[in-house]
Formats: sequence, C-alpha cells, structure tokens
Amino acid sequence: MAPKTGASVLDLGCGKGGNLAHITALGARAVGVDISLAQIKAAEARWSDTGMVLHRTDATRYLKEGGEQFDAVFSVFGAAWFTDPAVLLPAIRRRLRPGGVFAFSHRPPIEGCYGCQASYINRSEDEDPLVVKRWDYEPDRWVETLTEHGFTAAGARLVPAPSGRRKIGTLVVRAHG
Ligand SMILES: C[S@@+](CC[C@H](N)C(=O)[O-])C[C@H]1O[C@@H](n2cnc3c(N)ncnc32)[C@H](O)[C@@H]1O
Repeated sequence: MAPKTGASVLDLGCGKGGNLAHITALGARAVGVDISLAQIKAAEARWSDTGMVLHRTDATRYLKEGGEQFDAVFSVFGAAWFTDPAVLLPAIRRRLRPGGVFAFSHRPPIEGCYGCQASYINRSEDEDPLVVKRWDYEPDRWVETLTEHGFTAAGARLVPAPSGRRKIGTLVVRAHG
C-alpha cells in the first residue's frame, strides 16, 4: 500500500494489531476494527503507545455508520474474507478517498469450493465451535467482482508459500477506489 506520512489507513479485522503497528511505524494514521473483544484488548495492551485507534465492532457496521475517509483500507486474513463482498465492497468504496487503495489477503480457495463456504472454529471443550462463513474466490473472480463494484485497476495473485513445510500460499488482492 505504501502509505505516505500522515495518510489514514484502516484495517478490517485487525486482530492483535501487529500489521497496524507496522503502518504506524511508516508514519500513517492507523485505525483498526475487530469484532472480537479479546483481540481488541490484546491490541490495546501491546500497542497503546503507537497512537493507533481501535474499535470493537463489526467491519460492515463500522464502515456504514461513520463518515471518515481513508487513503487505504486493508484486511489480512480478516473481515474481507468473512464478509459477503456484495455488502462489504460498496461500504468500503464509500469510505475510500478517490484513488485510495483497498488490499486484502487470505488463503486461496480449495479447487471446486468457490463462493460462500462454511467453516468451524474450535473453542473450549464445553462450547460448540464457532460457525463462520467465508468467501473464497479465484483471483480472476475477485478482479471481476471488484470491477463490478466500481473499483479500478484490480489485480489478484497467488503468492507461493515460503520454503518450508507449509505448502499453501496466500491470495493477495489489490484495487483502487
Ligand atoms: C485470522 S484473524 C487475523 C487477524 C489480523 N488481521 C492478523 O493478520 O493477525 C481474523 C480476525 O478477523 C476478525 N473478524 C472476522 N470477521 C470480522 C468482522 N465481520 N468484523 C470485524 N472483525 C472481524 C476476527 O475477530 C479476527 O480477529
């Protein structure tokens, strides 16, 4: 994203805030949103001295309720994976400055399993697993979807896994508002 000093950057599903901390180190104004109280508390505990601003809420809700404009919006294995793009993409465009960057990453889809997929995240032994939906598209489909929603210069590519035991790479998607 290469944010300039003073640029405003929003992370959707910021988790414990490590990526936002990097953004603040580059001199940008960082805002993070996460639906999980535990994640937001962990980010506050670790990074309160960086000046990052954190909100505990759903990403779409945050985007729809506020008016602040951002130079860049990003999501690393975050809300952009777990939210229907038909709902999320218009909400992001409303908050991106003209020409601003939207970038996100997550695992690539499993062959033959495209679109909305159900997944279970284990919690404690006494609780049912958390049911989540995620949206898995191939790179070409992401480019089409972003373009249909008015984004420009959309691009998507698969970054191979670093050498080691892991074999699954990362899908990286980027477009302009
Ligand atoms: C796999 S973690 C990644 C966290 C962080 N981006 C990172 O790279 O370390 C996914 C995060 O997305 C958050 N998340 C998922 N759906 C969300 C939503 N609709 N709104 C806000 N946060 C969401 C989860 O609470 C979780 O913290």
